[in-house]
Amino acid sequence: MKISIFGTGYVGLVTGSCLADVGHDVICVDINQAKIDGLKQGIIPIYEPGLDSVVKSNVAQGNLRFTTSAQEAVQHGEVIFIAVGTPPDEDGSADLQYVMAVGKTIGELMQSYKVVVNKSTVPVGTADKVTAVISQALEGRGFNAEFDVVSNPEFLKEGAAVADFMRPDRIVIGTSSAFAEGVMREVYAPFNRNHEKIIVMDVRSSELTKYAANCMLATKISFMNEMANIAERVGADIENVRRGIGSDPRIGYHFIYAGCGYGGSCFPKDVQALARTAGQYGYDSKILNAVEAVNDKQKTKLFELICKHYGITGTDTSALKGKTFALWGLAFKPNTDDMREAPSRVLMEALWAAGATVKAYDPEAMDETQRIYGNRADLVLCGTKEAALNAADALIICTEWKNFRAPDFTVIKESVADQVLFDGRNLFDPAQVYRNGLAYYAIGRADSIKQA
Ligand code: UDX
Repeated sequence: MKISIFGTGYVGLVTGSCLADVGHDVICVDINQAKIDGLKQGIIPIYEPGLDSVVKSNVAQGNLRFTTSAQEAVQHGEVIFIAVGTPPDEDGSADLQYVMAVGKTIGELMQSYKVVVNKSTVPVGTADKVTAVISQALEGRGFNAEFDVVSNPEFLKEGAAVADFMRPDRIVIGTSSAFAEGVMREVYAPFNRNHEKIIVMDVRSSELTKYAANCMLATKISFMNEMANIAERVGADIENVRRGIGSDPRIGYHFIYAGCGYGGSCFPKDVQALARTAGQYGYDSKILNAVEAVNDKQKTKLFELICKHYGITGTDTSALKGKTFALWGLAFKPNTDDMREAPSRVLMEALWAAGATVKAYDPEAMDETQRIYGNRADLVLCGTKEAALNAADALIICTEWKNFRAPDFTVIKESVADQVLFDGRNLFDPAQVYRNGLAYYAIGRADSIKQA
């Protein structure tokens, strides 16, 4: 099938290249000339495992092309995906200006029937708004053409996006048009071979499904972080509690890891946006607001533990002035270079405000960190995790990259002057860390905090 994708960001690029990979004829369009020029030369603007080779091989085979010409893209696609950004507005609701601009462009340029697909995460009611803007543009030209606007949310995890697209848990299609449903079934037929994964529903339920999924996952995390804070106070260990509750299949083991807070481009934005949507409809969502508040607080948790270790009780943080902290892990989670809403940022900014220096290492997110913070004397980006330890006073772990899981504790002990490890992801057995002569602070582990 001939498919066009507006937006070559994370979602658009993964969608476009994976659809090309199963044999569709795909054009990806973006207004950013430099990005398109780069993509034509095989330069992938984001780090995502497997994406590079899917893009390159399909470009080589000729079924994936890049352009800045909206005209070319609208003409080409029987199905046109909108996968442009929906950044948060000042009040946290999703900013739809890019989505609406694409809708308008489609209406201005289309010459025949199109299925327009909202792939970006958009508030309930957006498909109706896109329908209106396309109709308006068609009227403006005095041109009559049929189209359907379908909701088809993505459920891609960063770091596993290509795999998630190729082997989806479910493919949600929101439309009341039997014809558009048929077209969408054809688009996804290659991913729907072994058992039925397509779930068709009305547009608004589909739009809400995306938010409900992310908000449920964010709620699980904030709930566990709340339990961790209680565990720490009552003398329990959240890791035991996690195993204890996860064994109940109604709860399950997935996504119940306490830590230094969730980040990324989805959870913080979507929890906020759904809370704002609910508010606009006159409903005050106590749960969503609490999920957000708990997470904001959790991102300050490592700094609180650091203050505790250095005997800081009030607002006077001068005990941290001149200290150097080795920091392993900057990205909001492993296998990505994404720093959006990363807990490491809240931590670094607090340490800098207290007059401390950060020596950081991340396997992928160093360039991104440099881009965000530029050159500053209190940030040293190190080429290896060992280099970050050199002349540091303490070690902090913010992201659970695989190669942080079995460190040489002797090296850590010999390198960090204050012989203390702050672990935002509960990577270690506290007993093992103590055996190696280090003080250890983790999340929701009363014993680690007491013994440290
Ligand atoms: C998420 C959803 O998983 C995905 O389905 C949706 O399409 C987009 O949003 P992503 O943002 O890539 O994907 O990251 P995810 O792996 O879900 O992790 C989000 C954050 O939650 C990370 O900061 C992670 O560290 C944190 N997390 C996750 C926890 O703190 N505890 C957990 O148990 C799981």
